[in-house]
Amino acid sequence: MEKDIVKHFFTGTGSSYDSIVNLFTYGADRYWKKKLLAKVPKSRKILDLACGTGIVAFKLAKMNPCCKIVGVDMMWEYLVEAKNKASLNSCSEVQLICARAEEVKLRETFDCVTSSYIPKYVAADVLLKNISLNLKSGGVLILHDFAYPTNFVFQRLWHLHMLFMKIVGRPLFPKWRNVFDELAYFVKNSRWIPEYLEALKRFGFVDIQVEKYTAGSAAIISAVKK
Ligand SMILES: C[S@@+](CC[C@H](N)C(=O)[O-])C[C@H]1O[C@@H](n2cnc3c(N)ncnc32)[C@H](O)[C@@H]1O
Repeated sequence: MEKDIVKHFFTGTGSSYDSIVNLFTYGADRYWKKKLLAKVPKSRKILDLACGTGIVAFKLAKMNPCCKIVGVDMMWEYLVEAKNKASLNSCSEVQLICARAEEVKLRETFDCVTSSYIPKYVAADVLLKNISLNLKSGGVLILHDFAYPTNFVFQRLWHLHMLFMKIVGRPLFPKWRNVFDELAYFVKNSRWIPEYLEALKRFGFVDIQVEKYTAGSAAIISAVKK
């Protein structure tokens, strides 16, 4: 189910992703990514899972010129966008791999693993099992995704925003219709935050922290592998 929903949501959307994510979060995606990047420690090797068009991966490369960055994504059309950006910026230090984050086998371990918008799609146990193999002891994991606000007023505003996205976005960007139609239901019913917090403890991670942003509509979990 999780595997199918990703293709159902994102097929045909790679070339418009960067504009849509900013337009329909009113620029908040940039702010959330800034918060994520601020949590990345000084590293020699960083893995960005579900890297998409490489927004985070290329920012990491810019911020850490001597660092090796590996981006993994299961959608080839998103990686094509990332590869185009890499050649435009002659940014060869970002290595891009087409694979599922929960299955990818890498021959090296990383100081930090980042991932934006994957937790709601992949069961915590499944993803953390593979991340644990790829993260060094003492390495930092940083996960970001949408969340459903807990405050009643913000919940109403959130639903209005989702409705606006559906009414305005659907006719303007028909390739995104599945996201506009179904993302609200998916985010509202996702239990990714408590599930990842619980699973991180079971996998032996320490210093587990969760921070919510923008009226609770997004969250970042960070943790250190023991
Ligand atoms: C909303 S985009 C986010 C892209 C990027 N992380 C960002 O924040 O700009 C979601 C991306 O996650 C990828 N994705 C979702 N589940 C995945 C999985 N299990 N393995 C690899 N990629 C996955 C999709 O292919 C898509 O490119």
